[in-house]
Amino acid sequence: MKILVIGSGGREHALAWKLAKSEKVERVYAAPGNGGTAAEEKCENVELWCKSSAGQDTVNGDPAKEETQEALISFVKKEGIDLTVVGPEAPLAAGIADRFRAAGLSIVGPGAAASRLEASKAYAKSLMEKYGVRRAQSVTYDTPMEIHKALQIHYGNQNKGSISPLVIKADGLAAGKGVAIAEDLNTAETTVNDFMEKGILGDAGKVIVLEEFLRGPEVSILAAVSVSGGRGIILPFVAARDHKRRYDHDQGPNTGGMGAIAPVPDFTADLFNDFETAILNPTLQGLLTENYDYRGFIFFGVLVQNGKCYLLEYNIRLGDPETQAVLPLMDSDFAGLCRAIENGTLGEFRLSWKPGAVCAPVAVASGYPGDYQRGDPITVNKTAFAGTGAVFFAAGAVRGPGNAAEPDLYSAGGRVLAVSAHGVNGADARERAYKSLEAVHFEGMDYRQDIGTNYC
Ligand code: AMP
Ligand code: GLY
Repeated sequence: MKILVIGSGGREHALAWKLAKSEKVERVYAAPGNGGTAAEEKCENVELWCKSSAGQDTVNGDPAKEETQEALISFVKKEGIDLTVVGPEAPLAAGIADRFRAAGLSIVGPGAAASRLEASKAYAKSLMEKYGVRRAQSVTYDTPMEIHKALQIHYGNQNKGSISPLVIKADGLAAGKGVAIAEDLNTAETTVNDFMEKGILGDAGKVIVLEEFLRGPEVSILAAVSVSGGRGIILPFVAARDHKRRYDHDQGPNTGGMGAIAPVPDFTADLFNDFETAILNPTLQGLLTENYDYRGFIFFGVLVQNGKCYLLEYNIRLGDPETQAVLPLMDSDFAGLCRAIENGTLGEFRLSWKPGAVCAPVAVASGYPGDYQRGDPITVNKTAFAGTGAVFFAAGAVRGPGNAAEPDLYSAGGRVLAVSAHGVNGADARERAYKSLEAVHFEGMDYRQDIGTNYC
């Protein structure tokens, strides 16, 4: 099989790495990929030329744009690629899977209609409600007057000190900037003004979901979905946990994810059963009843409060950096899994996992998640790194002008790379992961020291 992976982050490096391990796979192309996918065995990055709407040729255009999607379709046809796997949500929400399927090409990813589960929080909430998915209670607003009235009532009716925060969510895709937890009326009103009236998130903030605040540990459950023609299944992976705050002990601003572990020790078998009963099964019922063509991955953002699982959100893709922790733990052939998702045989696929655990801390550039430094060379002491058994996943890292056999790497993003170590248990995985990070260096490199320890 020849496979194309769309995207350029750490998740896509992990996807390309895992796909390339399959005996069924002859070649993996990454569009645009990153400095890590360029160096991976059996992998190469694709340089795409396409016409922009302004009429100019652009290289590696945005895969959420129609012209880039058309260029990708031409490339897949020309190279005889058997299967395309999409990493990020934006191209899916923009209909890349529909376009590929209409052109008779095989792709792993939901169509635009099902992608609304992530692309519209209001829509996701309405589906959860319709099918009885256990969730945080919420109301959707599309006018400032109504929502301001609701805020006055919520914050005005409670005694100071006992006011529970409200969670304010922009309806559309907002690159991680669309959720605010408002402790007081002033913060809530400012956020609503920013989203709805000032339009800091563009159209994404025109509709707002106001949600009850839940308290408890969070887990990410990634799953394979193969639903079409009113039949199908969802096959969940082992639970993972992202650590989103920038600093140790969950302090500091939210980030795209500072590291992940899998499995999650405090997410017991009973909780997993509760998740399946209260969240996964009704979601599957919804996808079947709504007659979606959903052949791809889904990611359930779950919070556990008082021993019960609540769904916070759906994502229509795999998580980043959860994928960097989950895929190294997967024993099954991932290319076979992708094939089964796409051709409707997922029900017969046997998913198996290695024993033990994986810890995947992320190394970030100085300044992240604010304006960050970039363009620094990344060095790896290969012998020391190899001794730990860890895997290196590039994220915001591009290839330099080094020779093809030994390409050099430069930082180009805030989250620069992740290392992913498998161990006999969480402690062993952690030790290996952090030892491997000692063999990696770039100017200003920083990482959390506590990935996998705060099983809060
Ligand atoms: P979301 O994009 O909906 O997952 O929200 C991003 C983050 O905001 C989540 O990972 C949680 O940490 C937090 N969050 C979202 N919804 C809630 C909620 N109802 N209660 C508490 N925290 C929440
Ligand atoms: N790790 C969170 C996400 O991928 O959205």
